[in-house]
Amino acid sequence: MAKIKSAFFCQNCGTQTAKWLGKCPGCNEWNTLVEEIVQKENVRDKILHGDSFKKNTKPHHINEIVPLENRRYKLSNKEFNRVLGGGIVVGSLTLIGGEPGIGKSTLLLDIALNSKLKVLYVSGEESEEQIKMRADRIKHNEANCFLLTETNTQNIFQHAKNLVPDFIIIDSIQTLQTPTIESSPGSVSQVRECTAEMMRYAKETGVPIILIGHITKDGSIAGPKVLEHMVDTVLQFEGDRNHLYRLLRSVKNRFGSTNELGIYEMTSTGLKEVENPSAILVSNTDGELSGVTVAVTMEGTRPLLIEIQALASTAAYGTPQRSATGFDLRRLNMLLAVLEKKCGFRIGAKDVFLNITGGIKVDDPSIDLAVVCAILSSNVDLSIDSKTCFAAEVGLSGEIRPVPRIEQRIFEAEKLGYERIFISRHNKGIIQDKYKIELVLVNKVEDVLKNLFG
Ligand code: TYD
Ligand code: MG
Repeated sequence: MAKIKSAFFCQNCGTQTAKWLGKCPGCNEWNTLVEEIVQKENVRDKILHGDSFKKNTKPHHINEIVPLENRRYKLSNKEFNRVLGGGIVVGSLTLIGGEPGIGKSTLLLDIALNSKLKVLYVSGEESEEQIKMRADRIKHNEANCFLLTETNTQNIFQHAKNLVPDFIIIDSIQTLQTPTIESSPGSVSQVRECTAEMMRYAKETGVPIILIGHITKDGSIAGPKVLEHMVDTVLQFEGDRNHLYRLLRSVKNRFGSTNELGIYEMTSTGLKEVENPSAILVSNTDGELSGVTVAVTMEGTRPLLIEIQALASTAAYGTPQRSATGFDLRRLNMLLAVLEKKCGFRIGAKDVFLNITGGIKVDDPSIDLAVVCAILSSNVDLSIDSKTCFAAEVGLSGEIRPVPRIEQRIFEAEKLGYERIFISRHNKGIIQDKYKIELVLVNKVEDVLKNLFG
């Protein structure tokens, strides 16, 4: 008789223990350990070792190996390509996570329909008719896309072997089920084993696989961290459902940089790529407003102009309030302390609210100067010329520090029609003659204050 093994898995973080415990030793959550049958050994052995998709492996000389660049499929979706580092790598396993309803299925169906490659779209969540209805809403022509509604991994591999697609999309990993494990779909051990099988299939056949994953309340991909270790690339699809914009970020990427960002707009005909994000993130108000500045930040290799709004008002109660949306609150407190010391800003008597518009989060310190100026502008209730932008970090002693890739930032500001940019005097090799935009080189916060408000 087959030996049945079982273990306890935390449904929150995936920690495995041999006995039941009240509190998970991994994430300290209570009552999350659930017993799961790990494997039916005979079946597992038969499937894994008697199967024919396994290629024979042999060592290759390093010079014989074709570099990755030549082994990427370029998709028609430029934002997606860029986030992946230039296209989807042959034999890679990509996990894309996001909250329900954010548009994961829409995005991947769009990719499947428009890629000109032969795609197998496997759905365990929707029926073929439902997917077809969605496909009709999305603009496409001559799609070479096959739909399969199946949740058993072995059946999926069987169909894939017959169809020989260029790549496979799985919607979603939580609905898959492998016959080697008894626990129900979506449980930690199922999700983990299915991912492992997908990984083996992708590596052995060279067919890239994209998995869709759901996200738990605390924002991690459901069915734990272990998944993130197993796959090659983890993408996060995020955004406020109330905003039109959706951001695609790479959290982990074995084949490219992790700080690329793709921006999409949800429309009635699917997701549209946003080609010039700076233009949408900055509102073009005609009348000049106090407390509003524009910062030039970098998202990966791409400069991005964002609008920063601040409100500084007299505190009504004893302890002044601080609130920041899209910006680190501790960094805001630090900048306020610098302002108190250097510019006479009365930190103890003012409420300060800060907002980065468009619903995006920024942790690039190069927006410090714009934040500081927005607060000062709101404080004195004088507006800053809307053709002015900022790109510099503020140090603890009020010094204005240089930021990387300054030339790219200046060019972007110039391209979008800005007339002045405040940057640090310590940026190396900046020559005014090269640019049409006026460069204001500053050294200390006090200088900026004088320059702006006299
Ligand atoms: P969906 O891709 O089903 O989300 P997920 O797979 O991440 O759960 O996206 C669903 C949302 O997108 C839904 O609320 C409707 C909206 N949507 C549009 O606004 N326009 C469209 O063309 C499509 C297909 C969906
Ligand atoms: Mg979906």
